[in-house]
Amino acid sequence: MSFTIRWLGHSAFVFDIDGHNILVDPFLTGNPLAAAQADDLSPEVILVSHAHGDHTSDVVEIAKRTGALVVCNFEMGNYFTAQGVENVFQVNPGGTYSGDFFNAKWTVAFHSSSFPDGTYGGQPNGFVVTAAGKRVYFAGDTSLFSDMKLIGEDALDVAMLPIGDVFTMGVEDSIKATKLLCPRYVIPMHYNTFPPIVQDGAQWAEMVNRETSAQPIVLDPGDTFNLE
Ligand code: NI
Ligand code: MN
Repeated sequence: MSFTIRWLGHSAFVFDIDGHNILVDPFLTGNPLAAAQADDLSPEVILVSHAHGDHTSDVVEIAKRTGALVVCNFEMGNYFTAQGVENVFQVNPGGTYSGDFFNAKWTVAFHSSSFPDGTYGGQPNGFVVTAAGKRVYFAGDTSLFSDMKLIGEDALDVAMLPIGDVFTMGVEDSIKATKLLCPRYVIPMHYNTFPPIVQDGAQWAEMVNRETSAQPIVLDPGDTFNLE
C-alpha cells in the first residue's frame, strides 16, 4: 500500500493512494506557484475545505471534465450542483465520507467561507483522511484552536498546516498546533503564494525541529512526499 502527497502550491495537493488520486483544494488557475494545470489532473475525488477562490478556482472545470466526486460541506455541494457538477457528496463537521480506498472525516476550521461571487459557502472545514493504513489531517484555512488536541488523539501520521499568517494561523501558532496534534510529520501550506503570506520555510522547519517532536517536511511546489 502506498500514500504519496504532492504539493501543487498554496493549499492544493494530490494524494495518490495505490494509484487512486484525490485532489485537495484545487487552486491552479490564478495561482502564481501552481505546479500543474487543471487540464493535467484526472482525480477520482476532489476534497474542498471551503469556498474561497484560492481553494476552489478549478473545482467545477475538473469535476465536469473527469466526473470526479466532489466531497464538501452542504452549502458548497448545493453551489457546485447548481454549476452543473453531477457527482457531489455533502458532509459536515463530525461526519465521515467513506469511500472505496479512503475515508475522510470532516472537522471544524475557524475562518470564513464565501464563493468569489458572494454566495455563502457554509462553515469552513478541515478533514482527516484515512487510507493505506495512514492518517493525514488537512487543517484547511484556520486559526489555532485547542480542539486540535482531540484531533491529535487519533495517531496522526501527517498534519498539513497553514503558516502564511494574515488569513490563517502563522508560524508561531503552527508550532502550537503541532504540539497539540502530535503528528509524525508536519507539512506547511498556504504561504509564499502572495506577498502578504510570505514565510521562510527553512526557519519554520528549524522551529518545528527545536520545539516539537514532529519532523518538518518542507516541499517546493511540484514536490512529492512518500509517506511511509
Ligand atoms: Ni480561505
Ligand atoms: Mn485561503
